[in-house]
Amino acid sequence: MILLDGKALSKKIREGIKRKVVELKQSGIIPGLAVILIGDNPASQLYVNMKTKACEDVGIYSINHRMPAEISEDELISVIKMLNDNPMVHGILVQLPLPKHIDEERVIESIDYKKDIDGFHPYNVGRLVRGYPLYYSCTPYGIMKLFEEYNIELEGKDAVIVGAGNITGKPMASMLLNANATVQMCHIYTKDLKDKTINADIVISAVGKPNLITEDMVKEGSIVVDVGISRVGDKVVGDVDFENVSKKSSYITPVPGGVGPMTIAMLLSNTIKAVEVNKGL
Ligand code: GUN
Repeated sequence: MILLDGKALSKKIREGIKRKVVELKQSGIIPGLAVILIGDNPASQLYVNMKTKACEDVGIYSINHRMPAEISEDELISVIKMLNDNPMVHGILVQLPLPKHIDEERVIESIDYKKDIDGFHPYNVGRLVRGYPLYYSCTPYGIMKLFEEYNIELEGKDAVIVGAGNITGKPMASMLLNANATVQMCHIYTKDLKDKTINADIVISAVGKPNLITEDMVKEGSIVVDVGISRVGDKVVGDVDFENVSKKSSYITPVPGGVGPMTIAMLLSNTIKAVEVNKGL
């Protein structure tokens, strides 16, 4: 079994970004990321703090907009429009989930697609699905980078994705399909999950349910990617029973230290790309 070490790869990527930021600054450009956090969801606060700290570490200028949970949809959209027009801001990130009274789709569509470093805008989703992406969503992009780093060939592989969300599952499916893998999506209505995962060359789980993927559900030599993050007591765990599944898998991501740090590295990478997209460099 080989560990897909997201912590190590993300460090390497962040070092490359740091050098790129120095170059950009020498030409008078400071990459800028605006991060919007609504309300006081502790997990979102933690993620946003990690993202802004990561920006700081590589020299990206991050502008934080923290807003109360009661903010109206129109107020939020007017802040986004202001950021769309601000030339110092190359990327805009609205941390999800949003409070229930706010229409997520309307908010995402209000972001200038050129500044949509999450790749959530329908324009960017459409481009990815059509196979000529502008921005890749950070979590699946990080997973693709792990595959690349470890020379994992995707063409012709049978991949099963568990969890069909907009942040990971759906864009992951498009990326794997674009890489000529055969993709099967599983979700809460899937009748027999094991029946699907047991034959997969690659299993990617993005659900947030500890021990969802057990040893009996994967085949010998499979590649297992765990996107889940759950708190069990004082431990952070993924969806995969790592201890037992790792005995059968050829490659596996740990939690923590697998996909999580890669998501942040790709956010930084997308912000650098956003400088190019917005400046026409
Ligand atoms: N919430 C959970 N993951 C993400 C992410 O990658 N981007 C944003 N904006 N919100 C999230």
